[in-house]
Amino acid sequence: MAENTHLQELESLRDAALQELESIPDSSGIEAWRVEYLGRSGKLTQVLRGVSTLPADARPVIGAAGNKVKVALEGRLGERQAAIVNARLDSLADDAIDISLPGRSLAVGRLHPSTIILREITEIFRGMGFQVVEGPEVELDRYNFEALNIPKDHPARDMFDTFWIDANKDAEGRFTTLLRTHTSPMQARIMEAHEPPIRVVVPGKVYRYEATDATHESQFYQVEGLAVDKGITFANLKHTLHEFARRMFGSERKMRFRCDYFPFVEPGVDVSIDCFNCDGTDNSCRICRGAGWLEIMGAGMVHPNVLRNVGYDPEVYSGFAFGMGPERIAMLKYGIEDVRLFYGNDMRFLRQF
Ligand code: PHE
Repeated sequence: MAENTHLQELESLRDAALQELESIPDSSGIEAWRVEYLGRSGKLTQVLRGVSTLPADARPVIGAAGNKVKVALEGRLGERQAAIVNARLDSLADDAIDISLPGRSLAVGRLHPSTIILREITEIFRGMGFQVVEGPEVELDRYNFEALNIPKDHPARDMFDTFWIDANKDAEGRFTTLLRTHTSPMQARIMEAHEPPIRVVVPGKVYRYEATDATHESQFYQVEGLAVDKGITFANLKHTLHEFARRMFGSERKMRFRCDYFPFVEPGVDVSIDCFNCDGTDNSCRICRGAGWLEIMGAGMVHPNVLRNVGYDPEVYSGFAFGMGPERIAMLKYGIEDVRLFYGNDMRFLRQF
């Protein structure tokens, strides 16, 4: 009888232990379970020790059964331990960092060629004592045209195909606001707000209502220049612009001035440099196309009417003004053949600068 009771006791001990083991989630729980059942004073160990107190004929049966339970518990213990370790490794692998993977390199930005050339131009004039100022891109007819000696219905307005802004109209129903067609309106704004002497350059964006092609864009940059003081002459203009050309295109540069018409200067000129690519010797030169000269800006002496319009006395003050297209300068300098590349956002183009 005692034999059966012992066997049942062993079986229920085994069942309870195995059941408990299945629900233990971690290694420390597993270790506690091992101590509870298989440790030195564990439940199964005690039963096995008790075998020696049994009647002699019961001992082998109970002893063998006890050992079988021990083997079963130890076997399952090993499996559970391994399962828990593997589960930990799996979860580590899920969010693992593979330090042998090559890094993803960050795209590093760079300056746009327009920005590079604008900075180069304004830096040269700063070195000659000019201040750098900026002005509004949405401008009044008054500054873009009228103050610059271009009255309403003046034929010179045809030089500037204009984007009008339909927000405001004057008494005759004409638009009064526009996207500036050049940076020259800043001449009037600066003179209106300051007394001479004035030496400024004005970099900024301008807009023309034109179809685009390789040499025309509807938005582009200009850099305006203005110097006004007592006794400013055309010689000052020539020297300043020649110095600019030499610093921009090399100390060997020659300069050519030809008469040109802009309503806000008198006399007016267009300014060219001799071709820095072929020195005027190559009929098939990619830059000057055999002309030998490259037009780089318009310039002239500030028209007396412009001085009067801003309240300066043209008998006392005189000045020179110039306006250049930095994209054109960059195209010449870097041999860029299409102005549309500047706003094309093509990385293959932009990465070259
Ligand atoms: N504003 C003129 C243009 O856009 C350029 C210019 C500026 C000419 C200053 C003379 C003096 O064409």
